[in-house]
Amino acid sequence: MDENKSAQFGGVTTGGHSSLDYNSYLMVEQLKTLQVCQSEPAHHDEPLFIIIHQTYELWFKLIIHELDLVLDLMKQGNVRRATHFMRRAVAIMRLLVQQIHILETMSPTDFLGFRHKLNPASGFQSSQFREIEFIAGMKEERMLMHFKNDAVAFVDLKKRFDAPTLKDEFYALLRRHGFSLPMPESQGADLAEDPKVLAENIALEEIRVKELCRLYQEDQLGELHDLAETLIDIDELIALWRTHHVTVVERIIGFKRGTGGSEGVAYLRSTLVKRCFQDLWSVRTALT
Ligand code: HEM
Repeated sequence: MDENKSAQFGGVTTGGHSSLDYNSYLMVEQLKTLQVCQSEPAHHDEPLFIIIHQTYELWFKLIIHELDLVLDLMKQGNVRRATHFMRRAVAIMRLLVQQIHILETMSPTDFLGFRHKLNPASGFQSSQFREIEFIAGMKEERMLMHFKNDAVAFVDLKKRFDAPTLKDEFYALLRRHGFSLPMPESQGADLAEDPKVLAENIALEEIRVKELCRLYQEDQLGELHDLAETLIDIDELIALWRTHHVTVVERIIGFKRGTGGSEGVAYLRSTLVKRCFQDLWSVRTALT
């Protein structure tokens, strides 16, 4: 993908007109019509709930836009530009971790005033959140089932599920720089617990981690090291977002079940250990 072209953002239609102004360029009037409350009469706090989710989704759209370019730049071997755009995605994620706290100004009783109107809509159905996870390398096929009633989102996500991840492209880039990063053959679920297979996988992981330690030991690998650190940044920020989100959720709904049918806080807590770049985390332990 060309740095100046994007499949996700339409081309310029109004550029160059002398009538172009701030509101028409940004379609502010249209934007202001997109907050439609389900409560009747509209509960005072529902616009907060809608706008916070909409702004998340807008930033998710931009993160996906940046990560798509990063994937291409890694493929081209342009480490400096890939790092540049990863840093932008990281800066946005940093903001998104903080943004969730605005919801702490909504009391549990105020949320109960309109929560029943939201059923069965749920964060489970944020296809862009799932897309970011898939791009980063956190792929769980069962997550696709939440989109079985949304054909467009399902097809797009399935494509993303089958596509190379940031980790795949980063490892391919490192291999072109002479790194030996052996991966296990793809294995069926039945083999996953086989002690022989487990031992082989651990041995391969040790080789990869030892190789990746070089990023942190050899000065001439500085550019690749900086790119690796942005991957750790993204992983850390997704984990932090999960921690902040689950804490705010507990503060507002306690241990009630989620509108998406999960156990709520208990489910969200189970996701806190997820990591995309496990080898890069293991490097920290292996370094002497
Ligand atoms: C009052 C505020 C919120 C509450 C009570 C809440 C509650 C929950 C609950 C209970 C779940 C588990 C799934 C389910 O059963 O529905 C969940 C998942 C999720 N929520 Fe929220 N949430 C809130 C705000 C937000 C915001 C602002 C976002 C921004 C995007 C968000 C994004 C998500 C995502 C992406 C998931 C799926 C997480 C995963 O599966 O790893 N939530 N939420």
